[in-house]
Amino acid sequence: RSFTNERGSFNFNTREISMLKIDFDKQINECINKNLDAVNSDKWRNKYHIMAPIGWINDPNGLCEFNGEYHCYYQYSPLTPMGGLKFWGHAVSKDLANWKDKGVALYPDIAEDKDGVYSGSAFVKDDTIYFFYTGNVKHKGEHDYILTGREQNVILVTSKDGINFSEKKVLLRNTDFPEDMSLHVRDPKVWEEDGVYYMVLGARTTDDKGCILLYKSNDLYNWEFHSVPAGKLNNMGYMWECPDTFKLGNKDVLMFSPQGMEAEGYKYNNVYQCGYAVGNFVNDKKELKLGEFLEIDRGFDFYAPQTFEDSKGRRIVIGWMGVPDAVEHKNPTIDNFWQHQLTIPRELVLNYNKVYQVPVVELKKLRKGSSIKKEVYLNKEATLDIFESNTFELNIDFINTTEFEIALREDCKLSFNNKVFKLELGKSGYGREMRAVEIEAVDSIRIFSDNSSLEIFLNNGEEVFTTRFYPTKDNVGINLSGENLKGSICIYEMEAYKIEN
Ligand code: FRU
Repeated sequence: RSFTNERGSFNFNTREISMLKIDFDKQINECINKNLDAVNSDKWRNKYHIMAPIGWINDPNGLCEFNGEYHCYYQYSPLTPMGGLKFWGHAVSKDLANWKDKGVALYPDIAEDKDGVYSGSAFVKDDTIYFFYTGNVKHKGEHDYILTGREQNVILVTSKDGINFSEKKVLLRNTDFPEDMSLHVRDPKVWEEDGVYYMVLGARTTDDKGCILLYKSNDLYNWEFHSVPAGKLNNMGYMWECPDTFKLGNKDVLMFSPQGMEAEGYKYNNVYQCGYAVGNFVNDKKELKLGEFLEIDRGFDFYAPQTFEDSKGRRIVIGWMGVPDAVEHKNPTIDNFWQHQLTIPRELVLNYNKVYQVPVVELKKLRKGSSIKKEVYLNKEATLDIFESNTFELNIDFINTTEFEIALREDCKLSFNNKVFKLELGKSGYGREMRAVEIEAVDSIRIFSDNSSLEIFLNNGEEVFTTRFYPTKDNVGINLSGENLKGSICIYEMEAYKIEN
């Protein structure tokens, strides 16, 4: 096999592939040598989130626990902070709190993935990790890249250690997908049930409806089309990216990232959406009967999450702290040759058909020193003079509080009143202004603050706001003010821990 593109002419025998890798490594190393100082000296570089060493990061990929280690691969463009040719980067952790970067794992080095090793997942069986991902190909010429000019191939690579990979094997091509699919079919996620393997893919139909495709296999290599289990729904966007189906309790959850939903009040305010529906597969997986679509995160920067089950039986999610094409939300870190990061790992818990996200307990390991605490009664205003640090965890419990406002970091305001919780950012938001959710009551808030990100969990993860922001002044204190209606008592308990890593 051979092909030619703007980077040259390639022949895909094994020797040529390794030459291509050497060439990529050379380019990446040159880029690291040139830009690493700028990246690492950036005041907005974070302390306890997975970031690419340099350049651009998007979706988490291939999440798994294998031989006592957690693996998080990710969409990685090392050569530009604006997102270009995609590789898979790789980070490992023994405890989900401390991560080590391992460099590039997968390269775009065969004809079927030459324009990007796109998103995919990991499936662990015995002593092997099976990685299923999308090989992206773009043809030169006059194309819309929806109906012509693109290939999206499902590709398998295996590994016995997460570091060294087998030869790539193309499992499915566009011609294997149903006829009414456009060329956008990608992001395979694989799981096993009763000895049968299933794969979901995100897709766009030729008449611009988002859906998922379900494939079935007995051996992980040969896949047969089974169904379009969640229908081709109206008003649910033109493309569904990164589908993930998993069990929580006795329910099947479908999590995905639809593109093209219209904003409705406080809902679907980002350029692309991300959420889930809870239901059950019926009729031998031909159909997925789902409840309402709910956004999984209400902030400015959350997309393309992926889940996996760990050896403790927890369903853990990591999301991309960014949204594609969110042109109104700027990230000034591009001046220092890096952009975006992933979220902290969160455990998913089903509570009355709602998926709650709870930061994994291991994150407590990152707490440095003892906590500072404050308790305030009635209508008092309180300031927690927090250590001089921008990286901390803050927990606030409320009792009977019907209205409050929290001011933190440079210009971030969190408020609750008239049963609406709001996150507002000023200048530090770089175009991010306000996101909100209607919620009956707020009993607790947990905030993970890193140099340039906030993850805000209401009521133990019932609603979550994830955002990037870029304050220029250091943190001084956290101010809390509030009111209790009709004289009932209102108590705040604030507790903060410094985080360092
Ligand atoms: C989601 C996504 C995926 C795709 C990948 C490419 O952010 O667009 O659908 O596989 O990113 O980087």
